[in-house]
Amino acid sequence: MSTYLRPTLRCARALTPRVARSALVRPAAVRLYATEPPKEAAAEPAAPEPAAPKTEAPKSSSNGLLISAVVAALAAGGYYYYSSSSAEATPTATFVPTYDDYKKVYAAIADTLEDNDYDDGSYGPVLIRLAWHASGTYDINTKTGGSNGATMRFDPESSHGANAGLKAARDRLEPIKAKYPWISYGDLWTLGGVAAVQELGGPIIKWRPGRADADASACTPDGRLPDAAQGSSHIRDIFYRMGFNDQEIVALVGAHALGRCHTNRSGFDGPWTFAPTYMTNDFYKLLLDEKWHWRKWDGPKQFEDDKTKSLMMLPADMALVKDKSFKKWVEKYAKDNDAFFADFSKAFGTLLELGVPFKTEETWTFTPTTA
Ligand code: HEM
Repeated sequence: MSTYLRPTLRCARALTPRVARSALVRPAAVRLYATEPPKEAAAEPAAPEPAAPKTEAPKSSSNGLLISAVVAALAAGGYYYYSSSSAEATPTATFVPTYDDYKKVYAAIADTLEDNDYDDGSYGPVLIRLAWHASGTYDINTKTGGSNGATMRFDPESSHGANAGLKAARDRLEPIKAKYPWISYGDLWTLGGVAAVQELGGPIIKWRPGRADADASACTPDGRLPDAAQGSSHIRDIFYRMGFNDQEIVALVGAHALGRCHTNRSGFDGPWTFAPTYMTNDFYKLLLDEKWHWRKWDGPKQFEDDKTKSLMMLPADMALVKDKSFKKWVEKYAKDNDAFFADFSKAFGTLLELGVPFKTEETWTFTPTTA
């Protein structure tokens, strides 16, 4: 077990098996994350619209994609007009954000991750999940979905079953959006994922701005994100639709080293690793090294480890060792954390960019505040 424990970084808190178990058996009423309503409200109030660009898209048009294309062109050009002093959308200043401005946003996100009253002490894992679910709706054939648009702000996408619980992440970033109104939600959420990975000890992720927010008409249909109860052919259908291959799928799911499942969100329960706020290749090691059995409980079918009964695996996680083509990558990443980090960094960076009409080739990196 001790091989899975690592020194902790900012926000990192290792779970001993006992602590992990006690978290699992804590009654729902006193669970630390129970501050959120059990089910995400269907009619979630729309987050405030970003600052109005000087040349506004035609308001009469119901075509969200057209609006988003116009706004994207403006945003990608780096021009933002906003009123810094009043709530009205009267443009009073021209502001062209630079790398240093995005660096300030990165620092603000890094600063908001830690919270001892939330889950295992960090909003990092749920921010990573927000970035992934905002991006993972991409369909390579129709070129719809993806992080451009940030349509999860709106019903029906906000109330898709797969997105249950992500309001916690969106709300956590809201004060940062209020402080830096020139950043689009799509850029903020994806930068949130980058910051969370890096601050929790993961690899550096290349990132660039350029996402423009769309309206509710650009929401993607339900069913584009993976169903944890299913196996390898479903996983391939979902990730191939985004344009990923088997190796990239296995690298991406390694993010399950972080965070936990919540009965009031997905219905599943518990963390995958003993240090759920510190990114390592432990997910793969545990998947291979531990013995797993079906957990006996009245929740959805999930696995628990024989030894401590404090860890979990989803049926979809287990598919990664049942399928030969997936398993060879699990074995590689279990042996080689550097290879995992390199491949995760590339695949996660790609995921966050799916479907975004960037106007610039240049990507940026941000130094972790813990470095
Ligand atoms: C087969 C693919 C996947 C399935 C079926 C899946 C399923 C799930 C489920 C059911 C949860 C629990 C949600 C909750 O109850 O709060 C979860 C959490 C999480 N997932 Fe995935 N996931 C997949 C891929 C990914 C990918 C590609 C990433 C990121 C690159 C990711 C990152 C996370 C993180 C960080 C959490 C923890 C969230 C928290 O602690 O609040 N997952 N996932």
